[in-house]
Amino acid sequence: MDDNPTTLRQINSNTRYCALIGYPVRHSASPAFQNAGMMAMGLNWRYLALEVCPENIETAIAGAKSMGFVGLNLTVPHKESAFKLVDEVSESSQILKSINTIKFEGLNTNGNWQPIQEFQNEYPKQIKSIGYNTDAEAIPKAIKEELGFDFIHSKILILGAGGAGRVAALRLAKEGIDTLYIVNRTQEKAERLRNEISHYYPSIKIKLGYPELSAKIDLIINATSLGLKSNDPLPCDLSSFSFKQTQFAFDMIYRPARTPFLAYAENAGCKIANGMNMLLYQGVESLKIWSGESVPVEIMRKALIENIYPKQS
Ligand code: ATR
Repeated sequence: MDDNPTTLRQINSNTRYCALIGYPVRHSASPAFQNAGMMAMGLNWRYLALEVCPENIETAIAGAKSMGFVGLNLTVPHKESAFKLVDEVSESSQILKSINTIKFEGLNTNGNWQPIQEFQNEYPKQIKSIGYNTDAEAIPKAIKEELGFDFIHSKILILGAGGAGRVAALRLAKEGIDTLYIVNRTQEKAERLRNEISHYYPSIKIKLGYPELSAKIDLIINATSLGLKSNDPLPCDLSSFSFKQTQFAFDMIYRPARTPFLAYAENAGCKIANGMNMLLYQGVESLKIWSGESVPVEIMRKALIENIYPKQS
């Protein structure tokens, strides 16, 4: 532990590393809020962002493992390939077949596995990688907290059945929902997702396509990438769906803070939230997994907000 937990320590030979691996990764906010958290915890750790192309993901994970990294975060497009590359996966990520967090553990002289950072003098020869999906838990947590949303018996429309939409739908299926509508540009992906969900959660009603215009739902979620760019079309078709049909709207996008999707929803009277807290909570959970300690959530939230919504001067 640091003597003065508010001071960023000089990097030295005891500094330990975590990293986000993605492609691209240069605009990530994770280093800002993870380093703020690590610093406040008094850890002599650093969090890096490393751009790794899909062809090199296997060697990148192996390199981090052999160089004593505490752990990794994975982002697009590595979450599914990393799932196949780690030595073990957490129980909850087995259904998802996708991970965004890796923790490294070493085998000690007593034959027990322990977090890699606890080896003070000599690195263990045997190291294993364990995969987790902290995105999944962050989705219902952010929606419940920000919107005060109650999932029990709810009717939800999810736009997008790509990587993010699939994990969201599979995770929300555990929350006691009644009906899930899935809309995706590529129909086969929506069908595959429906089949996966009905295999694990047979009691949920799953419908492909929009609800009838006369039907009410409770929550619409944008899990597509539409809204990231200013000239993107809306992720939903306004001739098939009216925002008056729902009470709540959640956009996984956090930059811009208010996408046209959220603006439409708010104008129609919906309670809205963007993906900022989802990003925060997946990171908080990763840092908890790596450190085994409680994490300064508010300090990390502040650092994240300053990074993604810098004040215009
Ligand atoms: P992520 O991991 O961020 O979810 P992804 O797996 O590439 O990234 O998924 C992107 C999502 O946005 C998908 O649902 C994608 O639809 P397809 O499955 O049909 O590709 C959706 N999307 C991206 N661009 C789109 C566009 N121009 N129109 C409609 N949907 C789009």
